[in-house]
Amino acid sequence: METVVSGIRPTGNLHLGNYFGAMKNFVKMQYKHKCYFFIADFHSLTTHPTPENLMENIKQVLAEYLACGLDPEAATIYLQSDIHEIPELYLLLNMISYLGELERCTSFKEKVRVQPDNVNAGLLTYPVLMATDIIIHKATKVPVGKDQEQHLEMTRNFASRFNRMYNVNYFPEPVAYNFGEELIKIPGLDGSGKMGKSEGPNNAIFLVDEPEVIRKKVMKAVTDAGPTEINQKKPEVIENLFLLMNAVSASETIKHFDDLYNDCTLKYGNLKKQLAEDIIKFTNPFREKIKELKANNAYLKKVAEEGAEKARKSAAKTLKEVREIVGFKEF
Ligand code: TRP
Repeated sequence: METVVSGIRPTGNLHLGNYFGAMKNFVKMQYKHKCYFFIADFHSLTTHPTPENLMENIKQVLAEYLACGLDPEAATIYLQSDIHEIPELYLLLNMISYLGELERCTSFKEKVRVQPDNVNAGLLTYPVLMATDIIIHKATKVPVGKDQEQHLEMTRNFASRFNRMYNVNYFPEPVAYNFGEELIKIPGLDGSGKMGKSEGPNNAIFLVDEPEVIRKKVMKAVTDAGPTEINQKKPEVIENLFLLMNAVSASETIKHFDDLYNDCTLKYGNLKKQLAEDIIKFTNPFREKIKELKANNAYLKKVAEEGAEKARKSAAKTLKEVREIVGFKEF
């Protein structure tokens, strides 16, 4: 059994890509491994959300997590900001992380580009905080996408540097959790590739999207002029629509439209209509569940409190040991 940690910043709603790319696998993983799933609300401060929005965003993400099937009985689900040991370990790790490596980090350079007026120290040490999240539970596996690989590599550097510096074999060096075959790639609707929240308003279908919104987005999906040769290979934008269908539609439906494509009689409008309805059918239960959870503040609070209690146990043990290793011994 591995110890797994994963965090999500409360900065947007979950979309179908998040569901198939991560959440669906997290749900399985939570019964096989010791899993810590948390809301990275300290991290979200690096982009200065207003205090009015912060808690609302946190609750939304928590409700969406739970609606996807994360089980507070199986996994430890908590808010990063509830664990005071995290900022303390972060402080200690900051002492062994260096300006050069932090400045070289791709995500930092990207942030400097997109928010030049807010290059705060939190952005610079974002990878240190993320490493803290992971090693505070002595995690061995982290389910991350390509965009987080470098952060994970920095985590390994900090962990091994700590071990070397204090001549201990304390922190494991965590590696990416590889879902392999189970990872379903969900393309976006605008033909630009992956589904993502930052790709433009019509690229992603969110679990909370109302049916009308879903219909509109799907009908706007990018296509081409249509097939001209029997059994021709589908261009990427069309293949993308079929990939989406693969995720949400029945196999007969997919075969039906595939056959039409192959004999050049497919009307994209019909395929989109069907796809929209199948997405709606798929996301309906999630949307309902999210609404129900959002309306039950007492339950969300209870989940967060019980999760924090479990997370704190593990974090406090690590911190106690780390303080000793660093040299804070009994007076
Ligand atoms: N940086 C991650 C992201 O943007 C979120 C995150 C914070 C995280 N701490 C983490 C992910 C620890 C995994 C483990 O997606």
